Amino acid sequence: MKLLLKLLLTCFKFNVHNTAMDTVICKLEQRFAKHAEICSDFTCLDPRQFSKPLPTTALFKLSKVLGLENTSILREEFLDFTKKWDKLKLNLPEVYESYRSDEENELPELDLECLQKMS
Ligand SMILES: *[C@@H]1O[C@H](CO)[C@@H](O)[C@H](O)[C@H]1NC(C)=O
Repeated sequence: MKLLLKLLLTCFKFNVHNTAMDTVICKLEQRFAKHAEICSDFTCLDPRQFSKPLPTTALFKLSKVLGLENTSILREEFLDFTKKWDKLKLNLPEVYESYRSDEENELPELDLECLQKMS
């Protein structure tokens, strides 16, 4: 009898746990579904996606957030940017180099001995 009670109690706990988990998962899905469109828009901004064609419905939510009447302006600018991306990204290290040479004298000396002791 005691064992059966224990088994029933365990079963009850599992059921409560599963119901709670189902509710949590359902709520998460609802939340994500609400933001799926803006998440997809952000995915388009990933340079790894630039080579893929931009879906006709893309950037709708982002345009709305930016207060634009429609997607045409953002779409045009975005496509122009993606076309130039290969050249733009090549300039980045050079830009950093030019900043470095300007600031070189202002940078504090690194205490290498101290760093080696710490590692
Ligand atoms: C999109 O909006 C711009 C103004 O923001 C407007 O000039 C243009 O005609 C609109 N295009 C379409 C297809 O509605």
